[in-house]
Amino acid sequence: MPIDLEQVRSRAPGRDVFWHPVIDSTMNEAVRLSQRNCASGTVVGADEQTAGQGRWGRTWHSEKDSGLYFSVVLRLPIDMTAIPVLTFALGLAAASAIHDVAGVACDLRWPNDVLIRERKCAGILTQLHPGAVVAGIGINVNQSEFPTEVASIATSLRIETGRLQSRELLLAALLEEIDHHSDILARRGVAAILDLFQNASSYVAGRRVTVDLPEGPVTGVTAGLNEAGFLRLRRDDGGEEMIVAGGVRPAEN
Ligand code: BTN
Repeated sequence: MPIDLEQVRSRAPGRDVFWHPVIDSTMNEAVRLSQRNCASGTVVGADEQTAGQGRWGRTWHSEKDSGLYFSVVLRLPIDMTAIPVLTFALGLAAASAIHDVAGVACDLRWPNDVLIRERKCAGILTQLHPGAVVAGIGINVNQSEFPTEVASIATSLRIETGRLQSRELLLAALLEEIDHHSDILARRGVAAILDLFQNASSYVAGRRVTVDLPEGPVTGVTAGLNEAGFLRLRRDDGGEEMIVAGGVRPAEN
């Protein structure tokens, strides 16, 4: 079933929400709106995406009427250096909304994957544009299965809880959580979000992981975040690496 937009609007009064039955990617439309000076908090969502974008140029599987696919335009009084930490704030917001609506506890995998039992149920893509950050959030809500290429690493709230979940309630809760966590970042600063993230993520310290870097994979044990939110890794060869960007996964041995 398509999303019930009236229900969303009644739970998120005063917010501009643009919804499309089908779109290439909500990111493209949100960027267009941001260039036309739309208000901060404006949402562009869709019941289906034909070219959903993931991180690292990957595609985001966006099956019709099953998941929550939206982008939000954020104009926040924060420094450029806080943008990576904004991604953490959005991950925390997603985990909170999922917990409140579906009753499932999520883990956060640095920098921006939301996991349940080690499988990804949500992802976040942040892009910096003139005067705005455009943040795309995809949540696997009611999928009962996934394409072969992601079947072993993905899950949905329906699979995890054994029941259909309301995309409307989840979106409304998530928009509130985004406001709340953006506010923490803007008022209390990067350190406050880093604290929350470190408490919510099993990946930040003491996890043996492999990080896929452009120059090749590197394996070691995570050792906390620095003050900018970069991930410290104690490599197996004894050195220390500061991970600025890269895909993190559990090490195989
Ligand atoms: C990731 O790779 O983990 C990030 C996935 C982000 C997917 C969302 S779905 C809504 C928005 N529109 C897109 O095309 N991508 C983001």
